[in-house]
Amino acid sequence: MGRLRIKDILKTIPENQQITVKGWVRTFRNNSFIALNDGSTNNNLQVVVDFTSTSEEVLKRITTGAAISVNGILIASLGKGQVVEVKATTIEILGDSDAEKYPLQPKKHSLEFLREIAHLRFRTNTFGAVFRVRNSLAFAIHKFFNEKGFLYIHTPIITSSDAEGAGEMFHVTNFDLNNIPKNENGEIDYKQDFFGKSANLTVSGQLEGELAAMAFSDIYTFGPTFRAENSNTTRHLAEFWMIEPEMAFYDINDNMDLAEEMLQYVIKYALENNLEDIQFLSQRLEEEEKQKPQNERSELSLLDKLKFCLENKFERITYTQAIEILRESNHNKKKKFNYLVDKWGVDLQSEHERYLVEKHFKKPVILIDYPKEIKSFYMRQNEDGKTVAAMDILFPGIGEIVGGSQREERLDRLETRMHEIGIPVEELSWYLDTRRFGSCPHAGFGLGFERLVLFVTGMTNIRDVIPFPRTPKNCEF
Ligand code: 4AD
Ligand code: MG
Repeated sequence: MGRLRIKDILKTIPENQQITVKGWVRTFRNNSFIALNDGSTNNNLQVVVDFTSTSEEVLKRITTGAAISVNGILIASLGKGQVVEVKATTIEILGDSDAEKYPLQPKKHSLEFLREIAHLRFRTNTFGAVFRVRNSLAFAIHKFFNEKGFLYIHTPIITSSDAEGAGEMFHVTNFDLNNIPKNENGEIDYKQDFFGKSANLTVSGQLEGELAAMAFSDIYTFGPTFRAENSNTTRHLAEFWMIEPEMAFYDINDNMDLAEEMLQYVIKYALENNLEDIQFLSQRLEEEEKQKPQNERSELSLLDKLKFCLENKFERITYTQAIEILRESNHNKKKKFNYLVDKWGVDLQSEHERYLVEKHFKKPVILIDYPKEIKSFYMRQNEDGKTVAAMDILFPGIGEIVGGSQREERLDRLETRMHEIGIPVEELSWYLDTRRFGSCPHAGFGLGFERLVLFVTGMTNIRDVIPFPRTPKNCEF
């Protein structure tokens, strides 16, 4: 007899049918009632044990955390809290768990504690819900692009270029670190290294994505990216997943339309397919919020916030307009920002992004036309000579969730800009070839997957939406 998933069993009409179910014991009450969970849903299946006909030996081994297999009949439940339950015929212990030593006790644990036992936190309700939502969002991303006719391309994880030009790369080498070969000038001799040159983990698949877009028109990547930036915040990881579509013949407006449509599509998908988990997370967040002082509590519940995003067009404004709003804001005048906004050209901090979204517009905002000095070399230069066709999407509670731009397709302008900021033109000759042979207007963006998961789950620390977070001084598991 095949094993049934608890999620499906809970939806089945009980007709005294014989079933097999396997999972982990959450609790065992009165030597009679097992709350069993197999990760398919947060709802446990009640297994009723007849202790008079079950051996003492087996009863003793039904402990919190133990893995068991149950054969039994599915009946309507008399107790409250569940519609069906399983009357056990036989119970087999698959894996014991010493309840005294099991780190997950049937009580509320802090997220900080659970982060230290990330190998077991999948078994909690909160993380069960988070990772089922994460799974759905990943699937929805592929579904969205597939339905639109985009080609999914796998860009390399090991590269020899710095796509963002920000120098935040992890090196990849197989040198003996205690004996690194040097050349006559005393510099590291990468010629002797594995790839014969210096290599690193990718910070973005964009440059390779652009090459593919120049042949397939519409492509996307979805893979891990790595940043050796020393940002110890609730929104930064050293290893995160990024979705990067790249489209030939798109301008910045087409790019914004696509990003907005994609975000709404995947949020809607999660609401339709993971409502139970999102409701659970929404409730969880409400309880967390109650710990905060009244004026810091969020006005909308998680569910309302998600629905709100689906029902409202994102606000689109220029960087210049944003600076005006921030400069004139009472927040700025009363010096409530850590970084005061005093002049055009400054980079926006996340406190500014969140002010615009949460206090001023009260909805997602797309900022365009940033000063070229604070953006990457590949962004298309606007006619004003000062700004580039960049677009950042800012979300409530998150700040920047998407960063993208129309790309500079004009070879001369691109080369000039690269020279200006010291990007090695020869090393990126392959990239520039797209501008030499059949160049065309094109655009793309990057969505930080964990930031999306943060938004949809209402979690507040990015370390809690990726199974095993990598952050400065932390590479456990
Ligand atoms: O703005 P970023 O750096 O843009 C790029 O990498 C472009 N090449 C994307 C493109 O146009 N194809 O990163 C894009 C997004 C950010 O908006 C943010 O959501 C996320 O990636 N991100 C991070 N997420 C978690 N941890 C970090 N350290 C992140 N850095 C960026
Ligand atoms: Mg960015």
